Amino acid sequence: MQTLPDDFVWGVATAAYQIEGAPSANGRGESIWDRFAHTPGKTRNGDTGDAACEHFYRWESDIELMQQLGVQAYRFSIAWPRIFPHGSENPNLAGLGFYDRLVDKLLEAGITPSPTLYHWDLPQALEDDGGWVQRRTAYAFAHYAEVVGERLGDRVQQWWTINEPWCVAELGYFSGDHAPGRRNRKDALAAAHHTLLAHGLGMEALRRSAPAAQIGLVTNVECVVPRSAHPADIEAAELAHQLRNTWYVDPVLKGEYPERASEHYQWDAQPVRPGDMEIISAPMDSLGVNYYSRQVAGDERVDDADRPPPLVNANLPRTTMGWEIYPEGLRDILMRFQQDYELPPVYVTESGVAFADVEQDGAIHDADRRAYLESHFAAAAEAHAAGVDLRGYFVWSLMDNFEWQHGYSQRFGLVWVDYATQERIIKDSGYWFASMVKSS
Ligand code: FCB
Repeated sequence: MQTLPDDFVWGVATAAYQIEGAPSANGRGESIWDRFAHTPGKTRNGDTGDAACEHFYRWESDIELMQQLGVQAYRFSIAWPRIFPHGSENPNLAGLGFYDRLVDKLLEAGITPSPTLYHWDLPQALEDDGGWVQRRTAYAFAHYAEVVGERLGDRVQQWWTINEPWCVAELGYFSGDHAPGRRNRKDALAAAHHTLLAHGLGMEALRRSAPAAQIGLVTNVECVVPRSAHPADIEAAELAHQLRNTWYVDPVLKGEYPERASEHYQWDAQPVRPGDMEIISAPMDSLGVNYYSRQVAGDERVDDADRPPPLVNANLPRTTMGWEIYPEGLRDILMRFQQDYELPPVYVTESGVAFADVEQDGAIHDADRRAYLESHFAAAAEAHAAGVDLRGYFVWSLMDNFEWQHGYSQRFGLVWVDYATQERIIKDSGYWFASMVKSS
């Protein structure tokens, strides 16, 4: 197996709404996820993040758990509605204080804080004002970024602006599977542009208030594989790659939207104002890549009788999310990006897996998760050996948590959480991770 360099950073990731709970503590305002999860029929079993992992109250012992896992860096997100409960007023100092203490304690524990400013919990007040469909939300984000930078920038170096603009736009404003649950293509395209604009404006603002900040965007990518070598399938895979991946990476690294996808949407680019693409493509310090699975794309019009045999195994094992396990996709997508862009340093900002873990006498024997992680770490090492400037890897997730529309049904953690008692148990994969980090 290829190895990763000695200074490679091993971390874990979480997001505020998925773990914190305490939805109205210290003046926190309502977010679109509070509203969405409390709307009947939107999440599995009507689950909400009201309690989640009670991390807001248990953060100190959660940092101790991270120490036991040997974690070197922690990617968490800051809840915008804790800082601006109603969108735009004076910042809520009590909300900032929570992250202030978290950062101090992480540093004390020898763990590098790596915050994300937006992991989907838009203040509901901003959604009431049009949400990401409106340009002003990008400016509100920049103001929020500047305020958080002022408070934490003396101690935090690594920052992430927006988590997964594809999910924000497509799931939030097109499929409606995520908050705010809207379903409109035009709105989704506007939302995509405004989240990217927020990234650019946020980066500018953060550089003002936290001059030492190293800033990146986090994208969720899929390795798109054509169903067969039939030219129509190959063409379909290229389009799918643009819709899913390059729609969000071309603007930041090339200053343009991909053409084929633009034609596909028949997009009039109406939300794009002069100067936007320069703001969006201002140099960033790192690119975050979240990788979970592949996508197989084919042209539905091709008759199966005319289709050559599949290029890759079509029957891969799946996780409880229904996602195919395809570690080589991580290597392939990183190498494709290396070819197609001038990449800044890259981090895998999320990668991990949900399985049906079972507790047995106080232990979780999740050999399948360990195998998943091992194969994905190996794929990352191959990409690194092939020249990708990969600097670190954050496992999703530190602990089991609220998995959005799936509620508490999906367990992604290195640590098991008993939601009735809030007991935490390090899974076998967590112990393995700790020994791997120790020996790396
Ligand atoms: C990613 C999200 C993260 C988590 C994982 C499983 O898309 O960023 O919050 O839900 O998927």
